Parts: sequence; C-alpha cells; structure tokens
Amino acid sequence: MSERNVVVRMRDVHKSFSGVSILAGLSFELERGKCLGIMGGSGTGKSVALRHVIGLMKPDSGVVEVAGDDLAALDRKGLAAMRRRMGYVFQEGALINWLTVAENLALPLKENTKLSPSEIDQKVQEKLALVRIPDAGAKYPTEISGGMKKRVGIARALITDPALILYDEPNAGLDPEISRSINRLMRDVSEELGVSSLVVEHRVDCLRTVADEVLFLYKGQALVHEPTESFFRPKNTRLREFLGVDAADAQSPDQASS
Ligand SMILES: Nc1ncnc2c1ncn2[C@@H]1O[C@H](COP(=O)(O)OP(=O)(O)O)[C@@H](O)[C@H]1O
Ligand SMILES: [Mg+2]
Repeated sequence: MSERNVVVRMRDVHKSFSGVSILAGLSFELERGKCLGIMGGSGTGKSVALRHVIGLMKPDSGVVEVAGDDLAALDRKGLAAMRRRMGYVFQEGALINWLTVAENLALPLKENTKLSPSEIDQKVQEKLALVRIPDAGAKYPTEISGGMKKRVGIARALITDPALILYDEPNAGLDPEISRSINRLMRDVSEELGVSSLVVEHRVDCLRTVADEVLFLYKGQALVHEPTESFFRPKNTRLREFLGVDAADAQSPDQASS
C-alpha cells in the first residue's frame, strides 16, 4: 500500500477563530523520510497548521492523519502515544533554566519510559553527540548561546526517537551564520536518522538547505506545493510577490513576509 509512505496527511482542513477563517481547505501530504517546508506571511496560520498535526488543535472540518491514523479517532491515550512519536522544536527553546542541559534532555525519558538511569544517560549523550555538542550536558541553559540552545532543543525533540519532527521557525532570533549551521544540522539529522520533518520558516536559505518540497500557505490553502528547486523559481504571481522574486536567487527576501 502506498498509504504506508505518507506520514502526515491533511485533507480539506478548515479552522476558524471567532468567525475568522484561518485554514480554509488545507490539504497536503508528507512522505516518510522527506522534509516539507511551509512558507507564508505572518499570521497566515502556519503555527496553527503545526498544532493540528500535534493534535493540540482540532479542525472544524476535514481530516488530519499521522502515520495512517485519523487523529480525531484517537482517544486521550492514543493521542498521547502518538505525540510521543513526534518531536517539536519550539521557537523559544523552552528549556527549564534550573535543570542542566542533560537533565532537560532526560526529563521526557524519565516521565514516559522505564529506562534505567544509565540507559537514560546513554541516550542523552548520544543525542548531544548527534547535535555536535557532546560536552554541553553539565551546563545550564543560561550559560549557553542561542545557537547552542537551538541544538539542545533539537536534541530534546529527538530524545524519544520520534518518526516525525516539527520545527516552528527554527531560524528565528539567530544571526545568519548561526542559522546556516542550524540548517545544516537539521539536514544532517534528517539524513542520519531518516526522520520525516515539517519545517515552518520564511527564510529562503533555511528551506533551500533542508526542504525536499515547499508549500506556500495563502488564504488558508496550499496555493503552491512543489519540489524546492522549482518552488523558488515560481510562476505563481502571488508567490512571486511574496518572495520578491527577481531578488530571490541572489538574496533572502525575509522582509517580504513581515
Ligand atoms: N488559539 C487561538 N485562538 C484564537 N486565535 C488564534 C489562536 N491561535 C492562532 N490564532 C490566530 O490565527 C492566526 C494565525 O496564527 P498563526 O498560525 O500563529 O500564524 P503564523 O502563520 O504566523 O504562525 C492569527 O491571526 C492568530 O491570532
Ligand atoms: Mg507562527
């Protein structure tokens, strides 16, 4: 069955807040092992779309499937189990400041698994090595840079070995050089682990580095959804405007989105 190769599927998802339509028939599929980027202006519903995938929000109508399961059909336990198979990288690190980096990473394993302390230590060390900061475990979040915090956030999202990882604006608040190193890390992690990912980001360099395909969210729908290469050479007028297209090949048109 080709079904098995689709990790996330949204079908005609509608969502309004106080009568204001945000998602208005959003449909897309993410194939196993692939990375799908989602672009769109501020307030267009990119984070709302991610929250539907995690099951933190329910659609007014339409279907959200993860790993073949309709989220609406899962009970509380089923949804909690599903969430443990997803990693989520928050924009603001969301690390606990009074715990060390290693303790932050260990927390989801202590709460959700029966692993022994030494097995937990081993997993923590493995993930710190994966994000190329093997010696950061004993530090506190307040003692490390923004780029390192982002690495810790990625390690924590991966600590339970999820099949799917979601990133909400992974470059936000990082300077261009650190952003590039984070983007390369995201790409390497996908390749090394074969994990599927959804990345919300409006920086062109990020999606060029990490995404196999990109979707342009406009008026609540996927106006354009194409392989990354052709996405950034758009024919669609609205997407050309968004990207400031004549400059799109030469520089990052970040300003176009805010
Ligand atoms: N829980 C909520 N209750 C009411 N409105 C919301 C809620 N979450 C998001 N919205 C609204 O939905 C719109 C899209 O938000 P969001 O997905 O965060 O945008 P972005 O594309 O910048 O991530 C915004 O207008 C926001 O105010
Ligand atoms: Mg957002």
